[in-house]
Amino acid sequence: MRIVSEGLTFTYNKKTKFAKKALDGVSLVIEEGEFFGIIGHTGSGKSTFIQHLNALIPVEEGTLKIGDRDLSASVKKSKKKKFYRELRSKVGMVFQYPEYQLFAETVYDDVAFGYKNFFPEAKKEDIDAAVYGALEMVGLSREQAGKSPFELSGGQKRRAAIAGVIVTRPEILVLDEPVAGLDPKGKRELMALLHYLHGTACKTVVIVSHDMDEVADNCTRIAVFSEGKAVMQGSPAEIFSKTEELVNLRLDVPVTAYLSERLEEVGTKIETDYSVADFTEKTIKAYGGKSL
Ligand SMILES: Nc1ncnc2c1ncn2[C@@H]1O[C@H](COP(=O)(O)OP(=O)(O)O)[C@@H](O)[C@H]1O
Ligand SMILES: [Mg+2]
Repeated sequence: MRIVSEGLTFTYNKKTKFAKKALDGVSLVIEEGEFFGIIGHTGSGKSTFIQHLNALIPVEEGTLKIGDRDLSASVKKSKKKKFYRELRSKVGMVFQYPEYQLFAETVYDDVAFGYKNFFPEAKKEDIDAAVYGALEMVGLSREQAGKSPFELSGGQKRRAAIAGVIVTRPEILVLDEPVAGLDPKGKRELMALLHYLHGTACKTVVIVSHDMDEVADNCTRIAVFSEGKAVMQGSPAEIFSKTEELVNLRLDVPVTAYLSERLEEVGTKIETDYSVADFTEKTIKAYGGKSL
């Protein structure tokens, strides 16, 4: 399913003195199959935007299509409400720090809750298959399924929360700051998990991040949000070659972008996509070293 948003605009607390325009005409296309990154300063509208993707926030102004489901403001509410439920099973949403939302007595029950919510009529064996399948995909064992979520480590809890979302087999998996608060090893493991899910359970992955190295290293394309608008869109190579624009938006660039700038100053231009692997490989070649 392709995601197409045009002129998406949203104001919190509209018509009150606390009114806050969070989205101001977001036009953006996310193709099926992408590993898409949304970056931008705090308050730029990233979380508000992604909550539109499964209609947690209904479209107030503008156009939004998820595959052939039209969530646009112009479509009658009664018509849209009919497919909200199905949409929510197809567009899985993992909030920031999702482990805080684990509540059941066991990991199994928590993941099963997500499934039963969408398939209330499901039989025990179908629930079992879905739950153990989802847990296996995130790397949690049957033994861990029987434990209390509170007995798991931080990274494991987050995986359990992700299992509770992928249990309905969403085509699109959306994650708000998925590695926030994890240690470097936990971050690497979770990113590896997201790549694994991207190749297996879910066709499209959309992550919100404020870590430039992370998006440079992982995403097929990136949108940069600023003050409620998607001000830049493109591949990491396109986005991170525009260091000055990013700095003007008070954003950082990946460490590989700083290094390439420094190398260019001393006369070596590296054409890179700014992932660590590509940058390292090309730099070694440029200086006549052996390929990795
Ligand atoms: N529930 C809310 N009520 C009122 N204002 C909000 C709410 N959530 C977010 N905002 C405001 O909307 C703007 C965009 O917020 P958000 O989408 O959370 O940005 P980001 O995820 O990029 O940090 C910010 O100015 C924020 O303060
Ligand atoms: Mg946010």
